[in-house]
Amino acid sequence: MPVPKLAQQRAATLRTELQQHNYQYYILDEPTIPDAEYDRLFRELQDLEKQYPELIVVDSPTQRVGSMPLTAFQRIKHKVPMLSLSNAFSEKELLAFDKRIHDRLRSSKEIEYVCEPKLDGLAVSLIYEKGVLMQAATRGDGFIGEDITQNIRTIGSIPLKLQGENYPEILEVRGEVYMPLKGFLALNKKARAADDKVFANPRNAAAGSLRQLDSKITATRPLAMYCYGIGEVVGGTVGDSQWEMLQYFKHWGLRVNNQIQKVHGITACWQYYRKIEKKRKQLNYDIDGVVFKVNRFTLQQQLGFVSRAPRWSVAQKFPAQEELSKLKDVEFQVGRTGALTPVARLEPTFVGGAVVSNATLHNMDEITRKDIRIGDTVIIRRAGDVIPEVVGAVKAKRPKNARKIQLPTHCPVCDSTVIQPEGEAVAHCIGELYCAAQRKGVIEHFASRKAMNIDGLGQRLVDIMVNNGLLKNVADIYNLTVAKVAALERMGEKSAQNLIAAIEKSKATTLAKFIYALSIREVGESTANNLVNHFGEFSVIKKASIEQLQQTPDIGPVVATNIYTFFRQAHNQEVIKELLKAGIHWQESAVKLQNEQPLSKQTYVLTGTLTTLAREEAKAKLVALGAKVSGSVSKKTNYVVAGSEPGSKLIKAESLGIPVKDEKWLLKLLKKY
Ligand code: IVH
Repeated sequence: MPVPKLAQQRAATLRTELQQHNYQYYILDEPTIPDAEYDRLFRELQDLEKQYPELIVVDSPTQRVGSMPLTAFQRIKHKVPMLSLSNAFSEKELLAFDKRIHDRLRSSKEIEYVCEPKLDGLAVSLIYEKGVLMQAATRGDGFIGEDITQNIRTIGSIPLKLQGENYPEILEVRGEVYMPLKGFLALNKKARAADDKVFANPRNAAAGSLRQLDSKITATRPLAMYCYGIGEVVGGTVGDSQWEMLQYFKHWGLRVNNQIQKVHGITACWQYYRKIEKKRKQLNYDIDGVVFKVNRFTLQQQLGFVSRAPRWSVAQKFPAQEELSKLKDVEFQVGRTGALTPVARLEPTFVGGAVVSNATLHNMDEITRKDIRIGDTVIIRRAGDVIPEVVGAVKAKRPKNARKIQLPTHCPVCDSTVIQPEGEAVAHCIGELYCAAQRKGVIEHFASRKAMNIDGLGQRLVDIMVNNGLLKNVADIYNLTVAKVAALERMGEKSAQNLIAAIEKSKATTLAKFIYALSIREVGESTANNLVNHFGEFSVIKKASIEQLQQTPDIGPVVATNIYTFFRQAHNQEVIKELLKAGIHWQESAVKLQNEQPLSKQTYVLTGTLTTLAREEAKAKLVALGAKVSGSVSKKTNYVVAGSEPGSKLIKAESLGIPVKDEKWLLKLLKKY
């Protein structure tokens, strides 16, 4: 049945009106009609759309209630990486930030900064095409995130359609999704009453809500968003500065925090920090500091980036929060590398927005240095989402029967000897893979979200499977079957099937995640990424010498040795072989990413002293553009960049006929991208 003209017109009017009311309510914070009236208009549109489903358009205000649950999130590669910020913890560090900027810009003029609260939520990216919200993604590792479009669509303060006309054809907006405090308290109250899981803090609640496969659940969660940045922009402009961009955002109906301020000079930034620090308690959302950004885009461009953070911005963090508690006992936990960590069992204490009953004591050296004893009143500290720690003991309150803490001589898990080599702070169990704790740790890490992301293979299941011998190493994961898993206690057929499906799915990964998953000592996500960007292929990384490994940004002799040693252990080689045989592969591996970069497949050698850039910095920049930077000249070298007093590399280059360039040439090249 064709939709009557009148119904079409009415639906269009209702959509525009509701959109306008959303804007009034969420963006301007000035609703012009009572909630009940809004609900009435909303229901009228819903009824019309029910009667004539052809009327439904993706950006209709009714399309926010959630849709069919997903089985998994799709992965999305960010066109422009989502970076992080460097931190400042004192006024001195802030002044140093400002000085670095002046030095780089070779200017003594006061800099214009935009000051913003640092929201304690999750960074997300929204893509608007022709003004319509088409895609939303989490930050992920900064390069690849997850598609959370369905969930984002349920958030009232995020427009499904932009207002006005002058927005770019493609506009990627970035900002923070968070849970307002009031909503968070109400949510937990409800959860407590229903005996459901309560969230430790608003950030966790926001994260848990955004990572829901069922967007109908997300729709019930009180989430909100503030926009503060851009990614890709095509066919249009967002102005010439951060401030102008934020004004455009508001104009287009995107929500911008109302505490933002434009100031001149760093002194005013510090004043802003003090002001917000005082105001913090009155805000209806958690913040963990403030962010300062150089206002002008041209200056931002000149300043550029260091590793994964912009030079033109800094996060001034609030000091961590501290409370007193009582140390009831100390237990030693064995990690996946065998390190023994003393963990404090505390009287449950509310600190930094969460109840803390366990905190790390780091290692025996720290305990001795701080002279902490069981029975002591201790100061505990919790900052953001970092692990709570015991900072020290209040000696004046020490009871007579306080006991000294002893390092166990044998591993609490496998009973192997515990060693603490001379000069090292950390004690180790020597059991390695004989020690179930280490095996469990390695397997759990392998399956974790940022590694192979095997949904459902968490601590509890790994515990059971290692204890009953089903898993001896990470390769055994790929020999699991539905029947073997379903036979475990508290595992049904359905969950077994889900687990096997998740294991199957994990086989398609990225090289960086795979390397990170292997539990090589001190190789975290960022080191794994650097390795892949530098070497490109797994076979090359495996064979690299300690010297070659040290050519990678941020890798020093210790980590290089760890990586080198890891790949030369027979049992590691065996496990890797089995994993690859099981079908683990990487599609959009960094090799591909690298090929998309402007300088991929080019090798540079830097020699002599550079005057405007430190050698390390020049190297990092070249690597970031996909180039390899080698320590020695060979036939494979494309260019040698020579500073003053270049030495033997220059002679070698000349003898091989390799082009030699100067620093000016390099700067021009870097500027080009
Ligand atoms: S700007 C390149 N502005 O802080 C600049 N970030 O530590 C990237 N954050 O991942 C971010 N409030 O999740 C920016 N006003 C703000 C912010 C903010 C909170 C978060 C964001 C980011 C993290 C970086």
